[in-house]
Amino acid sequence: MAAACAGITADLIARNLACAATKLKNAIKGPYSTDEKLTSHNDVTSYCNFYEFGSDKKSPARNAHTLETTPWSVTVEGACEKPGSYALEDIMHPQQLEERIYRLRCVEAWSMVIPWIGFPVRDVLKRFAPTSKAKYVKFETLYNPEMMPGQRRSVLEWPYTEALRIDEAMHPLTIFAVGLYGEVLPNQNGAPIRLVVPWKYGFKSIKSIVKIKFVENQPETSWSKLSPHEYGFYANVNPSIDHPRWSQKRERRIGEFLKRKTLMFNGYAEEVASLYDGMDLSKYY
Ligand code: MTE
Repeated sequence: MAAACAGITADLIARNLACAATKLKNAIKGPYSTDEKLTSHNDVTSYCNFYEFGSDKKSPARNAHTLETTPWSVTVEGACEKPGSYALEDIMHPQQLEERIYRLRCVEAWSMVIPWIGFPVRDVLKRFAPTSKAKYVKFETLYNPEMMPGQRRSVLEWPYTEALRIDEAMHPLTIFAVGLYGEVLPNQNGAPIRLVVPWKYGFKSIKSIVKIKFVENQPETSWSKLSPHEYGFYANVNPSIDHPRWSQKRERRIGEFLKRKTLMFNGYAEEVASLYDGMDLSKYY
């Protein structure tokens, strides 16, 4: 499979997203990348959270081969001038692929450094011409219990749903990822297209997106609906506000022995702190 998929051009990427280990050749170096040591490819692709394929870390890598990612389309709805169903290749076509090396911090107090390949969410959202009523953007994962056996159990309310305030979604750090380590996104990491919001806990970075909806009121989101006192809407990485089960002061960088201090907004405070000026972050966690 890898040989058959090798050497494809950018235009063919979307049609070949099902090919594991397909190289994404023409990504440029994007802004905001950290120079910290990368988490190994093996850890990034085998230690995953993707409850649609099981709730332990190893299950997604074992089970996600059942997800078919071609063809793939994304429905765009709500407060925008250009709603519709868009083929993934049409969403991707005008976008320049960029490599963004970001920290990912999970609320379970582990972290990674991942070289994503993607493009800014704002460049895509602007093409749908959101109206002034678009105060939030809601994202949904595919619902298909045949392909996603974890959806046969009610661990979460399916489909997995996440949302951002519109200014968070439009922030230049926020990307849609279609690859990592220079290759097409493996299924277990959210193929063919997922969100990456590096200053928020990992659960905001929703995988395998099939719907984008512009809405006026703050939407419900999967984890915060399941357990609102544990998971807030904002979910900004914040070492001073502990989760009931996990202290957020420190984290275990996967592949490292000693724990390290967790940084406010996962180290992206300079870029994003102003989004929350005047807000009580212990209330809006
Ligand atoms: N998206 C969906 N659809 N389902 C999930 O279970 N898990 C989230 C997030 N996106 C999840 C999801 C959580 S808890 C984390 S920490 C990240 O994906 C993990 O991303 P990774 O497995 O690629 O490291």
